[in-house]
Amino acid sequence: NEIYLDGLRGVLPRFPMAHAELAAKAEAAMAPAVWSYVAGGAGDEHTQRANVTAFERWGLVPRMLVGAAHRDLTVELFGTTLPAPLLMAPIGVLGICAQDGHGDLAAARAAARTGVPMIASTLATDPLEEVAAALGDTPGYFQLYTPTDRELAESLVRRAENAGFEAIVVTLDTWVTGWRPRDLSTANFPQLRGHCLANYTSDPVFRSRLPRTPEDDPQGAVLHWTQIFGNPLTWDDLPWLRSLTTLPLVLKGLCHPDDVRRAKDGGVDAVYCSNHGGRQANGGLPALDALPGVVEAADGLPVLFDSGVRSGADVVKAIALGATGVAVGRPYAYGLALGGTDGVVHVLRSLLAEADLVMAVDGYRALADLTPGSLRRVG
Ligand code: FNR
Repeated sequence: NEIYLDGLRGVLPRFPMAHAELAAKAEAAMAPAVWSYVAGGAGDEHTQRANVTAFERWGLVPRMLVGAAHRDLTVELFGTTLPAPLLMAPIGVLGICAQDGHGDLAAARAAARTGVPMIASTLATDPLEEVAAALGDTPGYFQLYTPTDRELAESLVRRAENAGFEAIVVTLDTWVTGWRPRDLSTANFPQLRGHCLANYTSDPVFRSRLPRTPEDDPQGAVLHWTQIFGNPLTWDDLPWLRSLTTLPLVLKGLCHPDDVRRAKDGGVDAVYCSNHGGRQANGGLPALDALPGVVEAADGLPVLFDSGVRSGADVVKAIALGATGVAVGRPYAYGLALGGTDGVVHVLRSLLAEADLVMAVDGYRALADLTPGSLRRVG
């Protein structure tokens, strides 16, 4: 309504309304190598595309005369009531998408304005303390890439706790970078340019490992980072991960039901079904197809989901398949490239508005009304 009423006064939306146009405008606004890094994925990007088309194979069955004039999209996560089951997935190197380089702060301000929680990446351009402050009252969760240096991992988690983050999300699928032809052909790996290491260069443990300060020797800091970044963890490390924090612990990247059961037995508070938006391994299952098995194995534990979400209808479908919360990745990075905080707010509000309208039109008053029975397989 807001948009149509503005239209009556001759004011058109500042940002594209359709995802395809948002992506096209973002591509035009970004340097080619940056666009390739953000929009690209592993291999020939078959899995990345399949993440998106998987949503087209499910159709919501509309229900009429249910009095859906008011919808309740609220959901409880980690003891907090969220306005809607939408989250911002962790995106590293966000600074490369922002005109002023401060992409994490811009995204955090968008979270503050919309109430959509942000999962802040370890690989941030802005230190986590500043990101937490910019979130205001909106919950933030800290995404941990576990370094081989355990003391550093502990330090990052302690800082996240002290800064007010409300959960720790450990990403398991990126201890090594996937085969990404677009980035390989431009030999572009933004992390090596160093400006995405704010959480490391501001960390006392990281700094203590360097012979010279990151200010005096930025390349030395990057080199050390390459040596400690990836930690090929095993299940034997789960007790240690669990011991890192009393905050809710979430494992990101789980797609196999057996892994979910093991995580649950190991005392995690939620599981996060994701294939990293198809950036890590090509040839995999679309994340949405893994979701029902994850939900069943989680057996009541909250399940977060991402990979391929491009619309409010997608959010609704993932909820119907059992997700507790649904995160979006690339689309908000595109919004950031087009209009900083305003661009991210636009993307988030559009997703929220469409999800709400789909529920209205299709007669679902609350998230609990959305079940696998609300969906039919298409084709
Ligand atoms: C990511 N993703 C990611 N995940 C994570 O746990 N830590 C990180 O630092 C990053 N970095 C990152 C950078 C970029 C440029 C992208 C696009 C993605 C993965 C992200 O959290 C999420 O899993 C996917 O983006 C979800 O897929 P869609 O929504 O992009 O299809």
